[in-house]
Amino acid sequence: MKPTIAPFPLARPRRSRRTEAIRSLVRENALSVNDLIWPVFVRDGEGIEEPVPSMPGVIRRSVDKIVEAAREAADLGIPVICLFPYTDPSLKTEDCAEAWSPDNLSNRATGAIKQAVPEIAVMTDVALDPYNINGHDGYVVDGEIVNDPSVEALVKMAVAQAEAGADIIGPSDMMDSRIGAMRQALEAAGHQHTLLLSYAAKYASAFYGPFRDAVGASGALKGDKKTYQIDPANSNEALRMIERDLNEGADMVMVKPGMPYLDICRRVKDTFGVPTYAYQVSGEYAMIQAAAQNGWIDGDKVMVESLMAFKRAGCDGILTYFAPAVAKAING
Ligand code: PBG
Repeated sequence: MKPTIAPFPLARPRRSRRTEAIRSLVRENALSVNDLIWPVFVRDGEGIEEPVPSMPGVIRRSVDKIVEAAREAADLGIPVICLFPYTDPSLKTEDCAEAWSPDNLSNRATGAIKQAVPEIAVMTDVALDPYNINGHDGYVVDGEIVNDPSVEALVKMAVAQAEAGADIIGPSDMMDSRIGAMRQALEAAGHQHTLLLSYAAKYASAFYGPFRDAVGASGALKGDKKTYQIDPANSNEALRMIERDLNEGADMVMVKPGMPYLDICRRVKDTFGVPTYAYQVSGEYAMIQAAAQNGWIDGDKVMVESLMAFKRAGCDGILTYFAPAVAKAING
Protein backbone atom coordinates (compact mmCIF):
# COMPACT_ATOMS: atom_id res chain seq x y z
CA MET A 1 0.00 0.00 0.00
CA LYS A 2 1.37 3.37 -1.04
CA PRO A 3 1.11 6.08 1.61
CA THR A 4 -0.88 9.08 0.50
CA ILE A 5 -0.90 12.57 1.90
CA ALA A 6 -2.87 15.62 0.86
CA PRO A 7 -0.98 18.79 -0.11
CA PHE A 8 -0.40 21.50 2.49
CA PRO A 9 -2.48 23.04 4.01
CA LEU A 10 -5.15 20.38 3.49
CA ALA A 11 -2.79 18.14 5.38
CA ARG A 12 -1.05 19.66 8.38
CA PRO A 13 0.55 16.59 9.96
CA ARG A 14 1.22 18.57 13.13
CA ARG A 15 -2.55 18.65 13.83
CA SER A 16 -2.31 15.08 15.04
CA ARG A 17 0.69 15.78 17.28
CA ARG A 18 -0.75 18.76 19.19
CA THR A 19 -1.99 17.19 22.42
CA GLU A 20 -1.26 13.99 24.30
CA ALA A 21 -4.89 12.90 23.85
CA ILE A 22 -4.62 13.13 20.07
CA ARG A 23 -1.13 11.63 20.02
CA SER A 24 -2.33 8.65 21.99
CA LEU A 25 -5.28 8.23 19.60
CA VAL A 26 -3.02 7.95 16.54
CA ARG A 27 -0.22 6.00 18.23
CA GLU A 28 0.61 2.90 16.17
CA ASN A 29 2.37 0.69 18.71
CA ALA A 30 2.20 0.03 22.42
CA LEU A 31 4.58 -1.54 24.89
CA SER A 32 2.92 -3.75 27.47
CA VAL A 33 4.20 -5.72 30.46
CA ASN A 34 2.95 -8.76 28.54
CA ASP A 35 5.79 -8.21 26.07
CA LEU A 36 8.54 -8.72 28.64
CA ILE A 37 10.87 -11.64 29.30
CA TRP A 38 13.24 -10.93 32.21
CA PRO A 39 16.71 -12.54 32.03
CA VAL A 40 18.24 -13.13 35.49
CA PHE A 41 21.50 -14.59 36.75
CA VAL A 42 21.53 -17.38 39.34
CA ARG A 43 24.46 -18.27 41.59
CA ASP A 44 24.94 -20.69 44.43
CA GLY A 45 24.69 -19.93 48.15
CA GLU A 46 21.87 -18.45 50.18
CA GLY A 47 20.67 -14.93 50.76
CA ILE A 48 23.12 -13.61 48.17
CA GLU A 49 22.57 -10.63 45.91
CA GLU A 50 25.78 -9.70 44.13
CA PRO A 51 26.00 -6.81 41.64
CA VAL A 52 27.40 -7.42 38.15
CA PRO A 53 29.88 -4.54 37.66
CA SER A 54 29.57 -4.29 33.87
CA MET A 55 25.74 -4.26 34.06
CA PRO A 56 24.72 -1.56 36.56
CA GLY A 57 21.44 -2.51 38.25
CA VAL A 58 21.79 -6.24 37.41
CA ILE A 59 22.51 -8.71 40.20
CA ARG A 60 23.38 -12.37 40.54
CA ARG A 61 21.03 -14.00 43.03
CA SER A 62 21.09 -17.22 44.98
CA VAL A 63 18.10 -19.51 44.41
CA ASP A 64 16.10 -18.19 47.40
CA LYS A 65 16.55 -14.62 46.13
CA ILE A 66 15.63 -15.66 42.58
CA VAL A 67 12.35 -16.98 43.95
CA GLU A 68 11.71 -13.59 45.59
CA ALA A 69 12.56 -11.86 42.31
CA ALA A 70 10.18 -14.16 40.42
CA ARG A 71 7.43 -13.25 42.92
CA GLU A 72 8.05 -9.54 42.33
CA ALA A 73 8.13 -10.04 38.55
CA ALA A 74 4.84 -11.95 38.60
CA ASP A 75 3.26 -9.23 40.75
CA LEU A 76 4.36 -6.65 38.17
CA GLY A 77 2.66 -8.72 35.45
CA ILE A 78 5.85 -9.94 33.77
CA PRO A 79 4.91 -13.26 32.11
CA VAL A 80 8.33 -14.92 31.77
CA ILE A 81 11.58 -15.09 33.72
CA CYS A 82 14.66 -16.47 31.94
CA LEU A 83 17.43 -18.15 33.94
CA PHE A 84 21.18 -18.00 33.33
CA PRO A 85 23.48 -19.79 35.75
CA TYR A 86 26.75 -18.42 37.06
CA THR A 87 28.51 -21.73 37.46
CA ASP A 88 31.31 -22.31 39.92
CA PRO A 89 34.55 -22.69 37.88
CA SER A 90 35.22 -26.02 39.65
CA LEU A 91 32.10 -27.47 37.93
CA LYS A 92 33.33 -26.60 34.43
CA THR A 93 34.65 -29.62 32.58
CA GLU A 94 35.43 -30.80 29.08
CA ASP A 95 32.37 -33.10 28.93
CA CYS A 96 30.08 -30.43 30.48
CA ALA A 97 28.17 -33.09 32.46
CA GLU A 98 26.87 -30.48 34.89
CA ALA A 99 24.74 -29.14 32.01
CA TRP A 100 22.25 -32.03 32.27
CA SER A 101 22.53 -32.69 35.99
CA PRO A 102 18.96 -32.67 37.36
CA ASP A 103 20.07 -30.55 40.28
CA ASN A 104 22.38 -28.07 38.63
CA LEU A 105 21.82 -24.43 39.54
CA SER A 106 19.46 -23.66 36.68
CA ASN A 107 17.31 -26.75 37.29
CA ARG A 108 17.13 -26.13 41.04
CA ALA A 109 16.08 -22.52 40.43
CA THR A 110 13.45 -23.69 37.92
CA GLY A 111 11.97 -26.14 40.42
CA ALA A 112 11.95 -23.58 43.23
CA ILE A 113 10.24 -20.94 41.09
CA LYS A 114 7.63 -23.33 39.70
CA GLN A 115 6.76 -24.38 43.24
CA ALA A 116 6.58 -20.90 44.80
CA VAL A 117 5.38 -18.81 41.84
CA PRO A 118 3.55 -21.20 39.51
CA GLU A 119 1.94 -18.44 37.46
CA ILE A 120 5.21 -17.14 35.99
CA ALA A 121 6.62 -19.04 33.01
CA VAL A 122 10.23 -20.15 33.35
CA MET A 123 12.52 -20.03 30.34
CA THR A 124 15.93 -21.69 30.37
CA ASP A 125 19.00 -21.49 28.18
CA VAL A 126 20.46 -24.41 26.25
CA ALA A 127 24.17 -24.03 25.45
CA LEU A 128 27.23 -25.58 26.99
CA ASP A 129 29.14 -22.36 27.71
CA PRO A 130 28.37 -22.03 31.44
CA TYR A 131 29.68 -25.58 31.99
CA ASN A 132 32.42 -25.73 29.40
CA ILE A 133 36.04 -25.41 30.41
CA ASN A 134 36.58 -23.78 26.97
CA GLY A 135 33.70 -21.33 27.38
CA HIS A 136 32.15 -22.46 24.07
CA ASP A 137 28.50 -23.36 23.42
CA GLY A 138 29.55 -26.73 21.97
CA TYR A 139 32.28 -29.30 22.50
CA VAL A 140 35.76 -28.36 21.41
CA VAL A 141 37.85 -31.10 19.79
CA ASP A 142 41.33 -30.19 18.53
CA GLY A 143 40.34 -26.54 18.40
CA GLU A 144 37.17 -27.21 16.41
CA ILE A 145 33.68 -26.65 17.82
CA VAL A 146 32.17 -29.96 16.73
CA ASN A 147 28.51 -30.06 15.79
CA ASP A 148 26.94 -33.50 16.13
CA PRO A 149 28.40 -34.54 19.52
CA SER A 150 27.44 -31.10 20.84
CA VAL A 151 23.85 -31.62 19.73
CA GLU A 152 23.70 -34.91 21.66
CA ALA A 153 24.80 -33.11 24.83
CA LEU A 154 22.45 -30.20 24.22
CA VAL A 155 19.51 -32.57 23.83
CA LYS A 156 20.27 -34.12 27.24
CA MET A 157 20.45 -30.63 28.69
CA ALA A 158 17.10 -29.61 27.19
CA VAL A 159 15.34 -32.74 28.47
CA ALA A 160 16.74 -32.18 31.97
CA GLN A 161 15.42 -28.63 31.90
CA ALA A 162 11.96 -29.80 30.82
CA GLU A 163 12.03 -32.41 33.57
CA ALA A 164 12.87 -29.66 36.10
CA GLY A 165 9.73 -27.82 34.97
CA ALA A 166 10.92 -25.28 32.40
CA ASP A 167 8.01 -23.96 30.33
CA ILE A 168 10.11 -22.51 27.53
CA ILE A 169 13.45 -23.83 26.39
CA GLY A 170 15.76 -21.38 24.63
CA PRO A 171 18.53 -23.05 22.62
CA SER A 172 21.16 -20.31 22.21
CA ASP A 173 23.96 -22.57 20.97
CA MET A 174 23.56 -22.19 17.18
CA MET A 175 24.59 -25.77 16.40
CA ASP A 176 22.99 -27.22 13.24
CA SER A 177 19.97 -29.54 13.66
CA ARG A 178 19.55 -29.00 17.39
CA ILE A 179 15.96 -27.79 17.27
CA GLY A 180 14.73 -30.93 15.51
CA ALA A 181 16.76 -33.16 17.80
CA MET A 182 15.40 -31.44 20.91
CA ARG A 183 11.83 -31.48 19.66
CA GLN A 184 11.99 -35.23 19.03
CA ALA A 185 13.59 -35.94 22.39
CA LEU A 186 11.05 -33.80 24.24
CA GLU A 187 8.16 -35.61 22.52
CA ALA A 188 9.70 -38.98 23.28
CA ALA A 189 10.14 -38.04 26.96
CA GLY A 190 6.52 -36.94 27.30
CA HIS A 191 7.20 -33.22 27.29
CA GLN A 192 4.89 -32.38 24.44
CA HIS A 193 3.87 -29.04 26.02
CA THR A 194 7.39 -27.67 26.38
CA LEU A 195 7.92 -24.70 24.08
CA LEU A 196 11.06 -24.12 22.05
CA LEU A 197 12.02 -20.48 21.59
CA SER A 198 14.91 -20.78 19.20
CA TYR A 199 17.75 -18.29 19.22
CA ALA A 200 17.54 -18.78 15.47
CA ALA A 201 19.17 -15.58 14.25
CA LYS A 202 21.97 -15.17 16.73
CA TYR A 203 24.88 -13.08 15.56
CA ALA A 204 28.56 -13.31 16.48
CA SER A 205 28.34 -10.04 18.35
CA ALA A 206 30.63 -7.97 20.54
CA PHE A 207 27.53 -6.81 22.40
CA TYR A 208 27.57 -9.97 24.58
CA GLY A 209 30.66 -8.87 26.53
CA PRO A 210 29.01 -7.90 29.83
CA PHE A 211 26.90 -11.09 29.82
CA ARG A 212 30.02 -13.22 29.62
CA ASP A 213 31.22 -11.39 32.74
CA ALA A 214 27.88 -12.00 34.44
CA VAL A 215 27.97 -15.77 33.86
CA GLY A 216 31.71 -15.99 34.43
CA ALA A 217 32.48 -17.17 30.88
CA SER A 218 34.74 -14.31 29.76
CA GLY A 219 37.87 -15.79 31.31
CA ALA A 220 37.10 -19.28 30.02
CA LEU A 221 36.31 -18.43 26.38
CA LYS A 222 39.10 -19.36 24.02
CA GLY A 223 38.80 -17.70 20.63
CA ASP A 224 35.49 -16.47 19.27
CA LYS A 225 32.10 -17.89 18.24
CA LYS A 226 32.27 -17.01 14.54
CA THR A 227 32.08 -20.62 13.32
CA TYR A 228 28.58 -21.02 14.73
CA GLN A 229 27.02 -17.59 15.26
CA ILE A 230 25.97 -15.53 12.21
CA ASP A 231 28.21 -12.93 10.55
CA PRO A 232 26.85 -9.44 11.44
CA ALA A 233 27.08 -8.53 7.74
CA ASN A 234 24.39 -11.05 6.78
CA SER A 235 20.63 -10.73 6.52
CA ASN A 236 19.33 -13.40 4.09
CA GLU A 237 21.22 -16.02 6.07
CA ALA A 238 19.26 -15.06 9.20
CA LEU A 239 15.99 -15.69 7.33
CA ARG A 240 17.20 -19.12 6.26
CA MET A 241 18.07 -19.99 9.87
CA ILE A 242 14.63 -18.86 11.05
CA GLU A 243 12.92 -20.95 8.35
CA ARG A 244 15.03 -23.99 9.19
CA ASP A 245 14.28 -23.78 12.91
CA LEU A 246 10.55 -23.35 12.27
CA ASN A 247 10.63 -26.40 10.03
CA GLU A 248 12.39 -28.35 12.79
CA GLY A 249 9.69 -27.53 15.33
CA ALA A 250 10.50 -24.19 16.96
CA ASP A 251 7.38 -22.54 18.43
CA MET A 252 8.90 -19.07 18.56
CA VAL A 253 12.02 -17.44 17.17
CA MET A 254 14.48 -14.86 18.37
CA VAL A 255 16.75 -12.27 16.83
CA LYS A 256 19.81 -11.39 18.88
CA PRO A 257 21.23 -8.80 19.60
CA GLY A 258 18.30 -6.41 19.39
CA MET A 259 18.69 -2.77 18.51
CA PRO A 260 21.53 -3.17 15.96
CA TYR A 261 19.41 -5.87 14.20
CA LEU A 262 15.95 -4.28 14.01
CA ASP A 263 16.02 -4.71 10.23
CA ILE A 264 16.22 -8.48 10.78
CA CYS A 265 13.28 -8.38 13.23
CA ARG A 266 11.16 -6.64 10.62
CA ARG A 267 12.13 -9.03 7.83
CA VAL A 268 11.44 -12.06 10.03
CA LYS A 269 8.02 -10.80 11.06
CA ASP A 270 7.04 -9.83 7.51
CA THR A 271 8.33 -13.07 6.00
CA PHE A 272 7.05 -15.64 8.49
CA GLY A 273 4.43 -13.94 10.69
CA VAL A 274 5.39 -16.16 13.62
CA PRO A 275 5.91 -15.17 17.28
CA THR A 276 9.10 -13.13 17.02
CA TYR A 277 11.27 -11.99 19.92
CA ALA A 278 14.35 -9.86 20.23
CA TYR A 279 17.02 -9.96 22.89
CA GLN A 280 18.15 -6.53 24.05
CA VAL A 281 21.50 -7.92 25.10
CA SER A 282 23.90 -7.04 27.89
CA GLY A 283 26.00 -4.62 25.82
CA GLU A 284 22.94 -2.66 24.75
CA TYR A 285 21.80 -2.48 28.36
CA ALA A 286 25.26 -1.49 29.60
CA MET A 287 25.58 1.33 27.05
CA ILE A 288 22.28 2.85 28.10
CA GLN A 289 23.05 2.52 31.81
CA ALA A 290 26.55 3.91 31.47
CA ALA A 291 25.42 6.99 29.55
CA ALA A 292 22.54 7.51 32.01
CA GLN A 293 24.87 7.23 35.01
CA ASN A 294 27.05 9.92 33.50
CA GLY A 295 24.03 12.17 33.05
CA TRP A 296 24.50 12.12 29.28
CA ILE A 297 21.04 10.72 28.49
CA ASP A 298 17.75 10.40 30.37
CA GLY A 299 17.98 6.68 31.20
CA ASP A 300 14.26 6.12 31.86
CA LYS A 301 13.21 7.73 28.60
CA VAL A 302 15.85 5.94 26.54
CA MET A 303 14.82 2.65 28.16
CA VAL A 304 11.21 3.06 27.04
CA GLU A 305 12.16 4.37 23.59
CA SER A 306 14.62 1.54 23.00
CA LEU A 307 11.96 -1.05 23.88
CA MET A 308 9.26 0.64 21.80
CA ALA A 309 11.60 0.30 18.81
CA PHE A 310 11.21 -3.49 19.03
CA LYS A 311 7.44 -3.24 18.89
CA ARG A 312 7.70 -0.94 15.87
CA ALA A 313 10.02 -3.47 14.21
CA GLY A 314 7.34 -6.16 14.59
CA CYS A 315 8.49 -8.03 17.68
CA ASP A 316 5.94 -9.75 19.90
CA GLY A 317 8.19 -9.47 22.93
CA ILE A 318 11.61 -8.52 24.21
CA LEU A 319 14.11 -10.16 26.51
CA THR A 320 15.40 -7.22 28.51
CA TYR A 321 17.30 -6.61 31.74
CA PHE A 322 15.06 -3.55 32.10
CA ALA A 323 11.95 -5.73 32.52
CA PRO A 324 11.10 -4.85 36.16
CA ALA A 325 12.00 -1.17 35.71
CA VAL A 326 9.97 -0.78 32.55
CA ALA A 327 7.06 -2.77 34.05
CA LYS A 328 7.00 -0.29 36.93
CA ALA A 329 7.07 2.59 34.45
CA ILE A 330 4.22 1.07 32.41
CA ASN A 331 2.15 0.27 35.52
CA GLY A 332 2.68 3.82 36.76
C1 PBG B 1 25.38 -18.13 25.57
C2 PBG B 1 24.54 -16.91 25.61
C3 PBG B 1 25.03 -15.62 25.39
C4 PBG B 1 23.98 -14.75 25.64
C5 PBG B 1 22.86 -15.52 25.96
N1 PBG B 1 23.22 -16.85 25.91
C6 PBG B 1 26.40 -15.15 25.09
C7 PBG B 1 27.17 -15.75 24.00
O1 PBG B 1 26.66 -16.32 23.05
O2 PBG B 1 28.38 -15.65 24.12
C8 PBG B 1 24.10 -13.27 25.57
C9 PBG B 1 23.12 -12.45 26.33
C10 PBG B 1 23.51 -11.04 26.56
O3 PBG B 1 24.55 -10.55 26.08
O4 PBG B 1 22.75 -10.35 27.26
N2 PBG B 1 24.93 -19.22 24.94
